[in-house]
Amino acid sequence: MRILPVLAAASLTTVFLAAPATAAPPALGPTATGYGGAVSTVDPTATAVGIDVLRRGGNAVDAAIAAAATLGVTEPFSAGIGGGGFFVYYDAKRRSVSTIDGRETGPATMREDHFVDPADGLPYDFPEARVSGLSVGTPGTLATWQSAARKWGTRSLASLLQPAARVADRGFPVDATFRQQVADNAAAFGQFDATAELYLPGGAPPAVGSVQRNPDLADTYRLIARQGIDVFYRGLVGRDIVRTVQHPPVSDTPVGTWTFPIRPGTLTTADLAGYELRHPAPTKSQFRDLTVYGMSTPSSGGVAVGEALNILERARVDGRDVTKALHYYLEASALAFADRNRYVGAYTSPSVLKKLISDSWAAQRECQISPTRALTKPVPPGDITATGCTPAPVGGPVEQGVSTTNLTVADRWGNVVEYTFTIEQTGGNAMVVPGRGFLLNNELTDFNFTGTQGTAPDPNLPGPNKRPRSSMSPTIVLKDGKPFLALGSPGGATIITTVLQVLLNRVVLGMSLPDAMAAPRASQRNSAGIQAEAAFRTTYGPQLTPLGHAFTTVDAPELGAATAIEFTGRGGMIASAEPVRRGGGAAAVVHPR
Ligand code: GLY
Repeated sequence: MRILPVLAAASLTTVFLAAPATAAPPALGPTATGYGGAVSTVDPTATAVGIDVLRRGGNAVDAAIAAAATLGVTEPFSAGIGGGGFFVYYDAKRRSVSTIDGRETGPATMREDHFVDPADGLPYDFPEARVSGLSVGTPGTLATWQSAARKWGTRSLASLLQPAARVADRGFPVDATFRQQVADNAAAFGQFDATAELYLPGGAPPAVGSVQRNPDLADTYRLIARQGIDVFYRGLVGRDIVRTVQHPPVSDTPVGTWTFPIRPGTLTTADLAGYELRHPAPTKSQFRDLTVYGMSTPSSGGVAVGEALNILERARVDGRDVTKALHYYLEASALAFADRNRYVGAYTSPSVLKKLISDSWAAQRECQISPTRALTKPVPPGDITATGCTPAPVGGPVEQGVSTTNLTVADRWGNVVEYTFTIEQTGGNAMVVPGRGFLLNNELTDFNFTGTQGTAPDPNLPGPNKRPRSSMSPTIVLKDGKPFLALGSPGGATIITTVLQVLLNRVVLGMSLPDAMAAPRASQRNSAGIQAEAAFRTTYGPQLTPLGHAFTTVDAPELGAATAIEFTGRGGMIASAEPVRRGGGAAAVVHPR
């Protein structure tokens, strides 16, 4: 692997734009208003690349792919070609919403006890499962980009990889978030030379303001551009992935100490060659005059957001009583999580999904909520075979990591992309594929390691070629048949509540989109304690605690890192990103107004 020395900081304009640059850098704050197309991501370089593609005549799909490839360079600990994700697309001409399921799949040999230690019959500790070959699923990200470009784009994947390759070559300035993500992972990263050489220069995280380069990833992108994605799924890069999984390249001279054994995985070249995208119909639910499209299984995002919105609609919450709206938001979230934990996995039948997102199911669940008293958590899942309010046997909450990234793109023709993609934990499984410059995912740890549903079946146990359940919730909302809002977020299982809460803030409480994004967040995922940011607890705790809501003893430093675009009519757009969370995001429009 080639490692270049870290150089002095360079300005964004000199590092990201294609030569020759044709436009001044776009505004890179958290909010941008205008027309002609918009991009919102967590990262200014990726947003700038996306806007540049739109300015050069590309459409939303082209810009989303170019921005996503750039995030693989600048947000390498959250997403990249070593992972997977869900792509939701509104086609303005067809007036239809389509999806690509690029979720990682487990190996053909994966069994239900994949994460159970044969030595003692107990599930592995999470860090041991994560930093291993066992956690790696076949990545779906490159196949997603290829498919989206061919179906809906106007540029080749090869050309859309070029800006990201240039960013990887020239480098980008390290910010505090990037440095902290390395620092949080230093012990795991330090076990693998390829990871340590790239992200622990001189044995420590890179300094804020230094320039981070990744020439190996630039070369990998260019190799894929020249040879096509077969070099990844059936060729040299795939063989390197499989070698890394089956023989984790543990360093003879590690940086720091890792106390767990680093176990090999069983992913094979046949698993990579056999990878297949899916194109499930989006979930669809009606909330007042809005039609909400989300991602179907293996993501639970669309179903859970849809179920919770149906419950909120039934409860008739509105902006006149914020406490009531938040009370029902928290209760609806808990109920939706209980149901998704019990019923939703990769193979949930369409009839069950339809039931969970139906108004009759919302009626069955909403009737359990008391307007004056919070339910005891965890609440049991509903009984899918019953019609009344009767609870079914109890199920346990399941947590996921807090990594992942999200982007929202719209073009001047009215097409919209909402794309959430991930390598699971921040830092994935900590293994950079030697010589290739990208981290592998640990997505298979999104499976439950053992059953969580008592005597009832658990829909999210490992199985051959199975995709783990996700919480990713890329969401596109139509009003009168036209895009009104597109949004999504990272954050593991908190993705569902972040998307729901931004929708609640914007649509029910009547906040502007930037205010809806910035407002303090809380996440009730069917646990005794609500995870909340300090500002939420101090602002709303005094009203919610008397109703019986309890908060975790430690506040969440932040929940989510959302991106969104609102469509204001006559081509107008408000692009919105986080003002503060994850170091602040970057929203831009082609023509500011
Ligand atoms: N890995 C996070 C998710 O899929 O929800």
